[in-house]
Amino acid sequence: YGSMKVNHFGHLEIGGCDTVKLAEKYGTPLIVYDVALIRHRARSFRRAFEQLNVNGHVAYAGKAFSSVAILQLMNEEGLSLDVVSGGELFTAMRAQFPPEKIHFHGNNKSDEEMEMALDYGIGYFVVDNFHELKRLQQLCEKRKIRQPILLRMTPGVEAHTHDYILTGQEDSKFGFDLQNGQAEKALEVALSLPNIKVDGIHCHIGSQIFETDGFIMAIEKLFAYIKRWKERFHFVPAIVNVGGGFGIRYTEEDEPLEPYSYVKAIAREVIRQAERISIAVPDIWIEPGRSLVGDAGTTIYTIGSRKEIPGVRTYISVDGGMSDNIRPALYQAKYDAVVANKLLKKTEETVSVAGKACESGDMLIWDIPLPQTTAGDLLAVFCTGAYGYSMASNYNRLPRPAVVFVENGKSHLAIKRERYEDVMHLDVPLYETVK
Ligand code: LLP
Repeated sequence: YGSMKVNHFGHLEIGGCDTVKLAEKYGTPLIVYDVALIRHRARSFRRAFEQLNVNGHVAYAGKAFSSVAILQLMNEEGLSLDVVSGGELFTAMRAQFPPEKIHFHGNNKSDEEMEMALDYGIGYFVVDNFHELKRLQQLCEKRKIRQPILLRMTPGVEAHTHDYILTGQEDSKFGFDLQNGQAEKALEVALSLPNIKVDGIHCHIGSQIFETDGFIMAIEKLFAYIKRWKERFHFVPAIVNVGGGFGIRYTEEDEPLEPYSYVKAIAREVIRQAERISIAVPDIWIEPGRSLVGDAGTTIYTIGSRKEIPGVRTYISVDGGMSDNIRPALYQAKYDAVVANKLLKKTEETVSVAGKACESGDMLIWDIPLPQTTAGDLLAVFCTGAYGYSMASNYNRLPRPAVVFVENGKSHLAIKRERYEDVMHLDVPLYETVK
């Protein structure tokens, strides 16, 4: 469904735009987003709920990549939004994202952030801990409003991509633990607070998940407690949010499922459990980040220097690296790449792709077969759309790349390239220097 192809010049084309031309126009490193693919993913998740005939809601987890343009696009596609900070909320406000479709996550929301969210009139707080519950009640009392919330529960199921561990003794900074009675206490407290309205519960089991059993296990666990809370507190959740975490294919080794398969498994289990404990089927919410934008992003770098260590390895360096994509250095994440201007050339050598930061760990890809390259060739690294730009830094005072959206042969600059002035614009000199 992506609109990536090889054009007759042997160049990589995305969304009808030649990436070599994009690099000329916008410079490199450049993150190119295939808008059609983002739309397709958003529609696939939404359509899955429609096809299954269940009330579902898809919220974009903005932490994967947040900017005014992407939030406008997600809004256009009918998604809700999950924000985790004042900064993400501010961006949403600037994008005129409908406040009622925003929910606010985070394990340490400041008073300032909470006030900002209340001023904007966001739909839901996903309350993470007792401190937040108390503060939110106080703020809402002052404002004389009753704020809808979800309570974030920690179900004791943790996804490790391919398998799951049941952690009897949960150890996570997030949420109220089901196992040790914290969740029940939190619900009891929340239900007693006059300015808080508990509409449902939330859990999130991990990220880059390829199977459905972890979700099923988490839902089973949640419902075991919901049954108890129905009896104890007459509480029935109107909403069950099972988080995000749906995997994508970074390299051929990864085997994610289609959005429909994840949604189907989740919906079936929620329905089954609701029937089992005789409650109305709650609205099912999901909040994918990576699976909406991850494989829609491609980073175009210019190749520069080369170092050959005979019999050991050849390094080629690009004009970005860990400053625009920390994932290989931080998580040993694997990526695939091609030479964007030499797609019709045969692979001739195996090289390792280094970033330009002053740090040995700044390697983007180890041992990848590529055609012979020289300085000035363009390397396209795939699947950089999630947690790339959003985790970018100015390490070494490298300016952050530009981001461009492409669709139907047209390109739109979504984030300008940082200039050196941008990188130092908050600096306060010790002395005024003479020009
Ligand atoms: N909901 C909650 C409560 C989350 O904590 C997350 C991700 C998501 C939704 C979205 O998960 P996704 O669908 O994108 O997997 N920086 C890491 C990923 C951190 C994920 C944090 N939470 C990475 O680059 O792999």
